[in-house]
Amino acid sequence: MAETLILPQTTDRSALYESLVPQIAALIDGEPDLTANLANVAAALKETFGFFWAGFYVKKDNQLVLGPFQGPIACTRINFNKGVCGAAYSRRETILVPDVDQFPGHIACSSASKSEVVVPVFDQAGNVAMVLDVDSDRLNDFSKADVNGLEQIAALLTVVI
Ligand code: SME
Repeated sequence: MAETLILPQTTDRSALYESLVPQIAALIDGEPDLTANLANVAAALKETFGFFWAGFYVKKDNQLVLGPFQGPIACTRINFNKGVCGAAYSRRETILVPDVDQFPGHIACSSASKSEVVVPVFDQAGNVAMVLDVDSDRLNDFSKADVNGLEQIAALLTVVI
């Protein structure tokens, strides 16, 4: 596909995800390179929603290691028992945190980050291969619409892992 996102003129997140998800599907379709696909997904999320930080932590050996992202520099390695990313990895489920200061063990890569969603990305064997982490500089910035949209995007990645 053309390397341009076409998005509706709206701030309605559900409408934006509805437009974005098939465009991401087309963007990664037939492209086997994982780094390239993760980089484009991070860029697409940043471009569409203007999130403070959007990117991936990839399971390598016994840690989550920083992958492609958009936003300020971030912690490089996260243990499975640390932070929201580690919790999403270990619990194998999406975690929405309306206020990061209320989440025990949250890793403050940036004090500007106020709320976040972390979604596990499963490989075809059903193991968590990485997590998709989206952070906002606003409190309580995420809703079910984000969980639903981000989980759809994570599911698209299963086929290219
Ligand atoms: N928020 C994450 C750490 C990664 S950064 O925010 C980019 C966490 O607590 O798991």
